[in-house]
Amino acid sequence: MSRKIIIDTDPGQDDAVAILLALASPEELDVLGIVTVAGNVELNQTTRNALQTVELSGRTDVPVYAGCARPMRQPLITAKYVHGDTGLDGPDLPAPQMKAEEQHGVDFIIEALRSNPANTVTLCTLGPLTNIGMAFVKAPDIVERVERIVMMGGAYFEVGNTTPAAEFNIYVDPEAADLVMRSGVPITLATLDVTHKVLTTKDHLEQIRAIGKRAATATVEMLDFFERFDREKYGWDGGPLHDPCVIAWLLKPELFGGRDINVEIETGSELTRGMTVADYWGIMDKPANVHFLDSVDATGFFALLAQRLERLP
Ligand code: BDR
Ligand code: CA
Repeated sequence: MSRKIIIDTDPGQDDAVAILLALASPEELDVLGIVTVAGNVELNQTTRNALQTVELSGRTDVPVYAGCARPMRQPLITAKYVHGDTGLDGPDLPAPQMKAEEQHGVDFIIEALRSNPANTVTLCTLGPLTNIGMAFVKAPDIVERVERIVMMGGAYFEVGNTTPAAEFNIYVDPEAADLVMRSGVPITLATLDVTHKVLTTKDHLEQIRAIGKRAATATVEMLDFFERFDREKYGWDGGPLHDPCVIAWLLKPELFGGRDINVEIETGSELTRGMTVADYWGIMDKPANVHFLDSVDATGFFALLAQRLERLP
């Protein structure tokens, strides 16, 4: 039986690849909806990018909902310097024919959790946690109905990519991230510590390029653009595929290693705001709230991605 998921996202090239991976895997994943949030770019653009990605996959049966346009407490910080002005720079995708649903994304999340049996819906978060935080504030009854949150965000050994202490998704909305971390919902966390091990090296990209179909070719064009930033910044021979780790963990958890630990979010300090304070070594006596992924079989990951992209038009 396939697992019901909602993808909460701010596409973003790596978000788009995560969406394609999920939509190419209907035996395992029943995508109830895609909810957009402001993050990499503004909300109207992340919504447009989500619609273009869904059309690229051919899965126009999957609805897209627009969520929150700004973080809970602070103004939006974008990452156009990484993703380009559209957030999805690289391929030349046609303007979307689909439209976003009328219902607000936060209300869709609430309704989906109330109308499905408890503990049967997993939330996959690929951007700032604003929509999930708002849904938990608006409808506290849904919190205990969430099966699991699989989240891309934060870092421990890699520390930060947006400030010296903070990763982008957490830094953009630390209050929402804090609320979600304290919610009691089981969380699987893919931080930079694991996503920085999934690099789009030349060989891996060639594997996808060789598929020669529309979605695979657009993926390579997206990743060609996306990787230039981290190549220059870190001197790596590829860019990290952050958000697809979330979907890959759901499809093949055996590709990843991890441990159960306590993670808290810094919201106070100006210097380290948005830091994921991870008790990786079990120093404090605090209960584990997170399954923290720390290793990945990158070759297996790219084999899975290529196998699934091959199924798309
Ligand atoms: C995260 O930030 C975004 O720019 C990416 O899409 C990913 O979700 C990595 O820090
Ligand atoms: Ca993202």
